[in-house]
Amino acid sequence: MSDPFRPLKNAFARYTTGVTVVSCLDPSGRALGITVNSFTSVSLEPALVSWCLDDRTSVAGAFLNADHYAVSVLAADQETQSQRFATPDNHAFQEGEGERFATGAPLLEGRIAGFDCRLAERFRVGDHTMLIGEIVHFDSREAAPLVYVGRGYSQGPVITD
Ligand SMILES: Cc1cc2nc3c(=O)[nH]c(=O)nc-3n(C[C@H](O)[C@H](O)[C@H](O)COP(=O)(O)O)c2cc1C
Repeated sequence: MSDPFRPLKNAFARYTTGVTVVSCLDPSGRALGITVNSFTSVSLEPALVSWCLDDRTSVAGAFLNADHYAVSVLAADQETQSQRFATPDNHAFQEGEGERFATGAPLLEGRIAGFDCRLAERFRVGDHTMLIGEIVHFDSREAAPLVYVGRGYSQGPVITD
């Protein structure tokens, strides 16, 4: 059966983004991550970011219950991580994997930037939920980002300060 959303998806696919893995702790303390390209910066003061969560994903319940989340901006050599956390029912971090700042949500090693966030606002928007986070800790390094456009990956330029 043909996908009625194909033309809209084709138009969205023209927009170039970076790739992130957003993580949280579920109620039992298990760390989960999902590949996300809807991440964006929102405000400097207060320091806010946002991303949109598909309400149908298997991890939606965990993220909707969590007071905190962390965002790892992927480096050009982290396509495998992007594919891993976009695979159905494959969202669990391994024991001890990742680096934790203030909130306990793990950030992936090798990222080019990381944002540890407290959930500030949440809005239902269509079939997604927009999560606004207040940054409580962040870092970045000089490196090339993973880029996503046209349903494929490429490498961005090295970003320097
Ligand atoms: C590059 C890329 C970007 C994505 N961006 C988002 C996003 O912004 N929000 C979202 O909810 N899902 C996004 N997804 C899809 C989820 O990663 C995917 O639906 C989910 O991991 C599937 O897991 P599930 O079948 O266990 O629900 C993206 C996937 C890829 C490959």
